[in-house]
Amino acid sequence: MTTVATTPFQDQKPGTSGLRKKVPHFQQRHYVENFVQSIFDSLDGFAGRDLVIGGDGRFFNRDTIQTAMKMAAANGFGRVIVGRGGILSTPAASNLIRVREAFGGIILSASHNPGGPDGDFGIKYNAANGGPAPEKITDAIYAKTRSIASFEIVEAPDVDLDKLGTVKLGDMTVEVVDPVAEYQALMERLFDFPAIRAMFAGGFRMRFDAMSAVTGPYAHAILEGALGAAPGTVINGTPLPDFGGHHPDPNLVHAKGIYDLAMGPDAPDLCAASDGDGDRNLIIGRGLFVTPSDSLAALSANAHLAPGYKAGLKGIARSMPTSAAADRVAEAKGLKSYETPTGWKFFGNLLDAGLATICGEESAGTGSDHVREKDGLWAVLLWLNILAVRQESVLAIMRDHWRTYGRNYYARHDYEEVASEGANALMAGLRGQLASLPGRSFGALTVQAADDFSYHDPVDGSDSAHQGIRVMFADGSRIVYRLSGTGTAGATLRVYIERFEGEVLDLETGDALRDLIALSRELAEIERHTGRTEPSVVT
Ligand code: G6P
Ligand code: ZN
Repeated sequence: MTTVATTPFQDQKPGTSGLRKKVPHFQQRHYVENFVQSIFDSLDGFAGRDLVIGGDGRFFNRDTIQTAMKMAAANGFGRVIVGRGGILSTPAASNLIRVREAFGGIILSASHNPGGPDGDFGIKYNAANGGPAPEKITDAIYAKTRSIASFEIVEAPDVDLDKLGTVKLGDMTVEVVDPVAEYQALMERLFDFPAIRAMFAGGFRMRFDAMSAVTGPYAHAILEGALGAAPGTVINGTPLPDFGGHHPDPNLVHAKGIYDLAMGPDAPDLCAASDGDGDRNLIIGRGLFVTPSDSLAALSANAHLAPGYKAGLKGIARSMPTSAAADRVAEAKGLKSYETPTGWKFFGNLLDAGLATICGEESAGTGSDHVREKDGLWAVLLWLNILAVRQESVLAIMRDHWRTYGRNYYARHDYEEVASEGANALMAGLRGQLASLPGRSFGALTVQAADDFSYHDPVDGSDSAHQGIRVMFADGSRIVYRLSGTGTAGATLRVYIERFEGEVLDLETGDALRDLIALSRELAEIERHTGRTEPSVVT
């Protein structure tokens, strides 16, 4: 065991989801060590306790795991539980922390960002509840990174991550576990596997794109293994360090192949995908992309059809930019609904306090109180369970949903990698307009209210301000602006556009939102501030 002198880096501030940088940045001498030691230095009482470690298999995953394990040993953890091959999807890691009653976990991932030697990498700490560390801890980690002078590490050969079982690393035990087993057991408790298996046996066809990322082994084992889906149901099912050179982001741009399949003549009954670390989901029925906001609403409305949720929901939570479709379900069912800032961590308190059962975000994240992360495969399995019980198509279920609750037409426009100064000026410009916007009319649209969203956490009483500009119109339409908290280059402006319709349910989204889209550009002077006339991605 040695203590190694080091000097601080000034840029190790954890973002929406841990510390994310390009791989070469992480490869700087002591960059990983400084951050990991700062995590440990921000925690109390872990001596002899268990730490879960795993990642999405991207380039630099294995190296970082070896470093983190040796540092955990030197810092006094009793045991590290690590997924075979260094693999653990983010929700599976969350589950493992919970079922093993670990002190916490370290997850290596940059989610849906590209990987490889020049791609992105990330490190985040999750607490004992299985969820991302609260701001109190991430702030402490950041403070430590700015004054760190040394770190502790055990000098030992690397552990063989591909061999199941336990070995010693210094005084600590390393346990290499099957990354799928505990997760699969949890899914079998939540969902009606026999009903889904019968649906597949009856000819139900599905395609799941694991995007050469972490969900491959999970999807192979659960969909094709336990549920009997036809071989070939899972595509790109082997995790690759560079994700095959693709963005493992299950949106309509990066998962275009599966989208085209779903819209084509030979579309399976369900197309789905998950992202780099397995917490996001994409759901496309035959001929219909289900927006994440609609998916949250439909899953909330039908969750009672799955055994794990048959007692009903305690409440429904969504992030602010997510459409209000789920609120309508909550209202109709007499459930409490919650609107939180962007970032899964804000759901943790609501879930821990038993205030909400299902949560979701427009950014393709849906999940429940079964873990403390969003969960891509969970969303797919809940859809499968609902389809197996209702024996209807995704399209039929969504049409029925809109007839019952109305439809929130919704799109997100991303202006990626714009210059930070322009993006900041744009947001400042909007803030400057907040007071004068209410009452103003633009064509048929009249602004009812405008604000910079802030959130008061009902559980711990904390406040989070400046979480995005909301422009709300008298007819229930809404435009939201915020800057991405997850990018690694320049700034990304996200514009969320929503319109509620009670009657006309079959419009094309682009047609339904045309006026709002034009107004979204005009109000924020997007072209003037960013030089862009069109978004780079529309989801
Ligand atoms: C991560 C978080 C999500 C969040 C998303 C927002 O994926 O886990 O909870 O919704 O980032 O990303 P953005 O780029 O919009 O800040
Ligand atoms: Zn992710």
